[in-house]
Amino acid sequence: MMKFNPKSKFLKLQNKLVFLGIVMLFFIATDVKAQVINSPNKQLVLTFELKNGVPQYQLVYKGKAVIKPSTLGIEVVNHPSFMDGFVISDSKEDSVDNSWKPVMGEVKTIRNHYNELLVTLSQPTLNNRFIRLRFRLFNDGLGFRYEFPKQKDLNYFIIKEEHTEFNLAGDHKIFWIPGDYDTNEYAYTTSKISEIPNLMEEATAFISAQWPIKNLAVQTPSMMKSSDGLYINIHEAALINYPAMSLNVDAENFRMSSHLTPDAVGNKGYIQTNAQTPWRTIVVSDKATDILASKLILNLNEPTAYEDVSWIKPVKYIGIWWEYFVAGKSTWAFGTETNVKLEDDFSKLTPNGKHGATNERAKAYIDFAADNGFNAVLIEGWNVGWEDWIGNWKENVFDFVTSYPDFDVNAIHEYAASKNVKIMMHHETSGSATNYERRLDRAFQFMKDNGYNSVKTGYVGQIIPRGEHHDGQWMVNHYIHVAERAADYEIMINSHEAVRPTGLNRTYPNWIAQESARGTEFEAMGGLAPEHTTILPFTRLMGGPMDYTPGIFQTDLTYYNTGGQQRVNTTLVKQLAYYVTMYSPLQMAADIPDNYDRFPDAFQFIKDVAVDWDNSYILEAEPGDYITIARKTKGKNEWFVGGVTDENSRTATVPFSYLPKGKEYLATIYSDAKDASWDKNPQAYTIKKALVNSKSLLKQYMAPGGGFAISIKEATPSELKELKKL
Ligand code: NOJ
Ligand code: CA
Repeated sequence: MMKFNPKSKFLKLQNKLVFLGIVMLFFIATDVKAQVINSPNKQLVLTFELKNGVPQYQLVYKGKAVIKPSTLGIEVVNHPSFMDGFVISDSKEDSVDNSWKPVMGEVKTIRNHYNELLVTLSQPTLNNRFIRLRFRLFNDGLGFRYEFPKQKDLNYFIIKEEHTEFNLAGDHKIFWIPGDYDTNEYAYTTSKISEIPNLMEEATAFISAQWPIKNLAVQTPSMMKSSDGLYINIHEAALINYPAMSLNVDAENFRMSSHLTPDAVGNKGYIQTNAQTPWRTIVVSDKATDILASKLILNLNEPTAYEDVSWIKPVKYIGIWWEYFVAGKSTWAFGTETNVKLEDDFSKLTPNGKHGATNERAKAYIDFAADNGFNAVLIEGWNVGWEDWIGNWKENVFDFVTSYPDFDVNAIHEYAASKNVKIMMHHETSGSATNYERRLDRAFQFMKDNGYNSVKTGYVGQIIPRGEHHDGQWMVNHYIHVAERAADYEIMINSHEAVRPTGLNRTYPNWIAQESARGTEFEAMGGLAPEHTTILPFTRLMGGPMDYTPGIFQTDLTYYNTGGQQRVNTTLVKQLAYYVTMYSPLQMAADIPDNYDRFPDAFQFIKDVAVDWDNSYILEAEPGDYITIARKTKGKNEWFVGGVTDENSRTATVPFSYLPKGKEYLATIYSDAKDASWDKNPQAYTIKKALVNSKSLLKQYMAPGGGFAISIKEATPSELKELKKL
């Protein structure tokens, strides 16, 4: 038996005090010592330090503050938070310089070059519980994330809120849409940060199933420009098993902070160690073109784990689609009934006489696709359930396998296959993700059995499980589950109304494109400002390819005599430019085939244009004003150039220095006519052929709301003889 020894108790106490003293000293010492890393080219400097035990970072570009000292932390529901009381218990630096090849992309090789700082932060008063912060500093910006390693006292926790600050250096110009848990289909507002409070109400127009954030918040990707010429883009990369982040706006102090999407019970994330947050990304440059050229977000995503990616292919498609929005002569629904159930006998419905997805129409579209070199035809409204698909928060709207009586899946598949055309499947879930998950395997097997290799998914309406949001952790996991499951069946996904992308097309390359922003459909529902597509590449497209659905030639929609006064707010030629300026390996020619037949010479550009590239050259750009991009076709000596302007006419300067030297090429230039404009004369254009070489320089006119498009290829001997130089 141990004897009571007052001396040893005293010694123990003394030891404890000494230990505490050391901890305190350590605490103070580490608190003052800031850690600094540079970008490989030394133009960016990241500083990390603890201020009174609170993590804080700042970012400087060429001597200018991008992010002033800003705090980091995670507030937790069921445990003490990861907000303060930290000491730095370890810190490591690393440098990486390698490159990789995307399955499809804007460039064939991507360089991944950064310096890294990894700090371990422990909380001595909480039994040395610890987290890590990993910072990666590239030449084009910063990515950082929180990591939660597995440890004795930390298995599970629930996030109340992430508190990542982005303390900006001034009252920047910002291109923004309102923070919303359920939709990103808002029009952009351009203002100063300080003006956001006054403009928020007007900016928050009605959109079905919207859920605007109550306190002042905007969405990412958030594009800003400082008065001294810095372009700053804040977004996130690799959003997996975590809710999407919006940005709270403190408009007086130009301070933004993370605002995560809650779940049905108000929690913001369920974490089990090992885990990490998505990367928070800040792309920065004094050149707007660098923002568009940045591959930082892709670099921060994990390489794909798919062993075979040979089945993932670019898609150029047409569809029974735009006519539902504008022509008024056809509908998704077959019957006139307004209350149907999946178990109903749909052949007994009263036909409304306007069903779009009939065998006859499908065959006509397949013929058009085959004649003009398209890979696929999207057919919406082929499956039962469209009579009451929206607005009822209904669980079992669609079954994804039963066609309407006038659509023969087998016959259409055989007809398409005989013409070497694929049918693109359409899975509108109407927000009922539970129903979709239950039926997913049967739906994908049905696709496999009938020769479909791609599907457009959709999430219109309020989400089921009820109370969940489009951008919450549950749905984030759902979209990824669908992509992974689709890969098992070698199916490509083109999602609409899903959470905005964060570069996951690197990890899940069959998640080939997304809508996740206001796309062409809104030209038929209130219109898009002419500047909209000069902003989207700086915002939505920073995260990944967009199924924008360009190619509308009949822009004046009164043409259809449906009573609407709508128009598409671009010239015809600007619609051509989109195939180059709005990057996606999946592109639609969205207009009704009849309209392409009316303008065969302009349609030639859509037939020719590539969708997968060896290289891209961002020639000129200013968010909200104009963008000019040239791209080289993957594996071919062909180039395409696209330029777009906002509501102002403009002259673009187009170099050709990316062409191999010393050789003349044939350029076909599609221009707005001198008297063209988006509102008065949108279909006036000229097409000119000329020879160009690497030294040519073109001054190219763009009409108000217009643009231009150029295709460049090898010239034949007779073209070399007959055509003039530019
Ligand atoms: C919204 C999508 O964006 C649109 O393309 C589709 O036609 C409808 N939902 C119906 O699924
Ligand atoms: Ca949509």
